[in-house]
Amino acid sequence: MKQKLVINLLLALGMLFAFTGVTQAAGDAVAAKEKLSMCEGCHGIPNYKTAFPTAYHVPKLGGQHAEYIVKALEGYKNGTRSHPTMTGLAKTLSQQDMEDFAAYYSKN
Ligand code: HEC
Repeated sequence: MKQKLVINLLLALGMLFAFTGVTQAAGDAVAAKEKLSMCEGCHGIPNYKTAFPTAYHVPKLGGQHAEYIVKALEGYKNGTRSHPTMTGLAKTLSQQDMEDFAAYYSKN
């Protein structure tokens, strides 16, 4: 009887830790809103094309999977992906910034 209670308690604690772990690792969509001006000039305009370096279609980010967005930004940052503007920008972003943007765009 008592043993079962202890097991349940441990299970509940385990879930609590697992849950707080997840919320810490995930991006913060609200924090992203304060930094969005860095991105919205291009990504916020439907069907927008950049004029530099050539007319370049800007992909829509809204609704994209968060993991995809983080991977893409990491790619620009570490050079596995390259695009003049995005590479320059991604180099200025921290891992937290990338996850915040990913959290925001995956929901908007
Ligand atoms: C000057 C315009 C411009 C700005 C500002 C800009 N981007 Fe981009 N972004 C682009 C273009 C153009 C591409 C497509 C590049 C390519 O094909 O590799 C792109 C691609 C991306 C991609 C990959 C999308 C895909 O479908 O593969 C992500 C993610 C992204 N941008 C995130 C951001 C974030 C986050 C910000 C703000 C910190 C930002 N961008 C700011 C122009 C911009």
